[in-house]
Amino acid sequence: MAVDDTTLNKTLWKIPNALCLLGSRAGDTWNGMTQSWVTQVSMEPVLLAAAVDTKALTNRLVREGGAFSINLWPRDDTRVFVKFSKPAKKEGMTLNGRPIREGITGVPVFEEAAVFFECRLWRIVECGTHDLFLGEVVDAGFGPYGEEVEVARMEDTRMKYGGVRRGGH
Ligand SMILES: Cc1cc2nc3c(=O)[nH]c(=O)nc-3n(C[C@H](O)[C@H](O)[C@H](O)COP(=O)(O)O)c2cc1C
Repeated sequence: MAVDDTTLNKTLWKIPNALCLLGSRAGDTWNGMTQSWVTQVSMEPVLLAAAVDTKALTNRLVREGGAFSINLWPRDDTRVFVKFSKPAKKEGMTLNGRPIREGITGVPVFEEAAVFFECRLWRIVECGTHDLFLGEVVDAGFGPYGEEVEVARMEDTRMKYGGVRRGGH
């Protein structure tokens, strides 16, 4: 490696990313997780890619459930991302107190999402610390804020994700 870890971290953290919630479910276990590594990777089929830590509960749920949702969030409500960085608590049709509905693939879709996508798992690429889940979009839409809504990005918060591996990654 021609670069030190500090420089690698600082440079990688400059990559602009969305900040959203990834919904997953296997049977009675439902989860939502703070996710920043998400992007479109194909037009036909329409595919979204999300890289998920191999150690996360979400990783198992996506593999077992065969689907996931991507929930872009209103830009002025970034507090949500703090709570969803550990397994979420389900009470009725809420996760960490945020209302959900069951999507057409069975995964949770957040009622407060600014924009949602539902994806059926298409391929998995094992990348190292993370698995890249490629999902074919089977449903998508806007939430209660309409089409002009601005969505949250990493730079709206003081959070960071990625860079080089630390203990536990
Ligand atoms: C700002 C932020 C962005 C994150 N982005 C990702 C991500 O893109 N992929 C990922 O696997 N974990 C990401 N995480 C970590 C997960 O949210 C956290 O490890 C997770 O809740 C564990 O997953 P689990 O609830 O499925 O066990 C991020 C955390 C934060 C705070």
